[in-house]
Amino acid sequence: MRRWIFPGSFDPLTLGHVDLLSRAHRLCDELIVAVLHNPRKQGLLLPAQRIALIEEVCGDLPGLRVIGSDRLLVQVAQDVEAQCVVRGLRTSGDSALEIQMAQLNRTLSPGLEVLLMTTAPQYAFISSSFVREIAEKGGDISAFVPPRIEAAINKILAGKQEEETL
Ligand code: PNS
Repeated sequence: MRRWIFPGSFDPLTLGHVDLLSRAHRLCDELIVAVLHNPRKQGLLLPAQRIALIEEVCGDLPGLRVIGSDRLLVQVAQDVEAQCVVRGLRTSGDSALEIQMAQLNRTLSPGLEVLLMTTAPQYAFISSSFVREIAEKGGDISAFVPPRIEAAINKILAGKQEEETL
């Protein structure tokens, strides 16, 4: 049984993530999408919202499960008994950090394999951080995220704006 884990902060899930996880899903028997904490990033969506949205968009893929955790990736991978971590590489700019994280994780957990998959070129310029920035300033994010995610983010931001004006 090939059980792989696709970790990220997914704040929000983008079309690039959907492409990667669909391709990884075809290569394994079970894919666990893990919403983890990235201390280097500021959040827009709550972890529970990110999980619910990934389930809505990708939950119909057989053998796909979405989980959330505040623990280390290697601890989560061990808990769910995943043999392989899948991460995406958009451009060569991603490679330094991804290789460093892969080597840190493989040192912490030598049995854990790390697979770096290149993003489809049409999505290589998309990042969740820029999507958050564009959405927070009222820009159109429809080219970067699935429609369900766009609708949810716009609703959450409208709610926040309403709270601020009260
Ligand atoms: O989508 P992101 O923000 O690039 O994902 C990064 C993430 C969440 C996978 C990474 O920050 C992570 O693994 N966080 C969990 C804590 C951890 O294991 N840190 C050590 C990384 S070597």
